[in-house]
Amino acid sequence: MASKLAPTLARLILPAAFILLFIYSTTLLYTPSKEEEPRAREEAVEKAEVEYLPPESCNLFKGKWVTDPNRKPLYDETCPFHRHAWNCLRNQRAHMDRINSWTWVPEDCPLLRVDPEKFLRMMRNKNIGLVGDSLNENFLVSFVCILRRADSGAKKWKKKGAWRGVYFPKFNVTVGYHRAVLLAKYVWLKLPVRRVSSDQVKFKEIYRVDVDVPAEGWAGIADFYDVLVFNTGHWWNHDKFPWETPLVFFRAGKPIHPPLDMYEGLKVVLDSMVAHIQKNFPAKTLKFWRLQSPRHFHGGDWNQNGSCTFDEPLEEPQV
Ligand SMILES: *[C@@H]1O[C@H](CO)[C@@H](O)[C@H](O)[C@H]1NC(C)=O
Ligand SMILES: *[C@@H]1O[C@H](CO)[C@@H](O)[C@H](O)[C@H]1NC(C)=O
Repeated sequence: MASKLAPTLARLILPAAFILLFIYSTTLLYTPSKEEEPRAREEAVEKAEVEYLPPESCNLFKGKWVTDPNRKPLYDETCPFHRHAWNCLRNQRAHMDRINSWTWVPEDCPLLRVDPEKFLRMMRNKNIGLVGDSLNENFLVSFVCILRRADSGAKKWKKKGAWRGVYFPKFNVTVGYHRAVLLAKYVWLKLPVRRVSSDQVKFKEIYRVDVDVPAEGWAGIADFYDVLVFNTGHWWNHDKFPWETPLVFFRAGKPIHPPLDMYEGLKVVLDSMVAHIQKNFPAKTLKFWRLQSPRHFHGGDWNQNGSCTFDEPLEEPQV
């Protein structure tokens, strides 16, 4: 079998190689005239960009994760935008090969790997913002580390309210991150609950969540970004907000009655944040919502020996 295959392959590959060599050498010989050079290049760039994008009819969200053992990360541990504690490559987290081998394959069309140069060229003079919790920040870090390959001048960017970001000077593109773990504004409060005696008042500690007020971290960003990616999720649990310091939901400055539990509150916050975005953000801004993803820690919190030992994506019913 193998002995038959080899000559067949040689018959196919050798002519193909010669054809490619021939095409390559003709491009070396061909020097376009001064006027047609930029136009030809522009057209070639546009054509490459069109081919790069998946067809609009394709539902990219319908698909599955598969492993490809030859897949390597697009950046290494020297990327300067990692928080040290989160730099899995540098910290030599176990099973990185397997983790890096996962790739998302849509059901109905091919999805090419992000090409930092093409991507940034298409986004020239545009800004991309991520708003949410640390899972969006994780996404931001790997994203800017990938994009940095196309612009070695990429540098940290900081603006009032933005927790961190990166500016790509070659393309005039900013990718920013605004930390807002619940999306809505929340503050820790001590509330008087009852008067124990005439000179003694009993307090209860709560977190006041204003369902109709965006967290300060992303107030005033409406006009800056062309693309926004929102997320919230794993802070809505009793490890983050213990039962004894509950979330108490307020609307228009007044406590909501009857009080909402945490999950009812999440739903109300999502509805009112979506309404806020629709009302106050330009319609032309492309907006995405990310769904829930797993927490960073398993088997305990960060200070209780918790660690993330998973190297497989969640199954659909687990999300
Ligand atoms: C950079 O992009 C911004 C829009 O994000 C634009 O206002 C500005 O003029 C651009 N600067 C240059 C030098 O092109
Ligand atoms: C964490 O693990 C260490 C060593 O196994 C143990 O001594 C300690 O009690 C653990 N801490 C918690 C909070 O479980």
